[in-house]
Amino acid sequence: MKPSRTSKAWMREHVNDPYVKLAKQHGYRSRAAFKLDEINTRDHLIRAGMLVVDLGATPGGWSQISAKLGAKVIALDLLEMDTIAGVTFIQGDFTGAAALELLKQALAGRLPDLVISDMAPNMSGVASADQARSMYLCELAHEFAREHLKPGGDFLVKTFQGEGFQDYVAALRMDFDQVQTRKPKASRDRSSEVYLLGRHFRANLP
Ligand SMILES: C[S@@+](CC[C@H](N)C(=O)[O-])C[C@H]1O[C@@H](n2cnc3c(N)ncnc32)[C@H](O)[C@@H]1O
Repeated sequence: MKPSRTSKAWMREHVNDPYVKLAKQHGYRSRAAFKLDEINTRDHLIRAGMLVVDLGATPGGWSQISAKLGAKVIALDLLEMDTIAGVTFIQGDFTGAAALELLKQALAGRLPDLVISDMAPNMSGVASADQARSMYLCELAHEFAREHLKPGGDFLVKTFQGEGFQDYVAALRMDFDQVQTRKPKASRDRSSEVYLLGRHFRANLP
């Protein structure tokens, strides 16, 4: 099939993207690695020995960064991921009960210090539908963090500004001492993508 004008433009942008080149040089599997790297340099989220849950992990850039800093990582994605030392990988759909069960088994009663979610649905091009599907993944990630995060732990989640965004920020504020917005340089300016960082989980004890 002949490549479309948009897929050719995407390929040109991808090939010329400095973060794609840098990722190759550093041996990172994705340009997304630099988003977590920049946020972590500023916010000091990841420390050696901590337990990190990485949702939407494939191809593995965020897991690579976390493992390199000495964290133990439990990573989950719909798609397969090649092995990374220090990373336990679960292939499954985070919206389904089966994947959640596998995640709980991998946790084996431990509470993660940090939950990171870079999950994004396959974009259909219909903005309202894409926004709703993305917000749904964000809400599930928040629910997971609420149920499993260690008191005082942190939560980093990829969101897209649009319908539901402000309500989502308000919901995070109920559970975390601080909620900050991060737009790392590797996140394209034209994208409404923005990362929300919940600091110090309050663990609403009964
Ligand atoms: C932007 S990529 C993540 C990149 C990754 N953080 C990295 O550094 O390499 C988004 C990922 O979310 C995953 N994803 C989307 N919906 C999901 C779902 N329902 N359950 C699990 N993973 C999902 C996709 O398969 C995709 O790999």
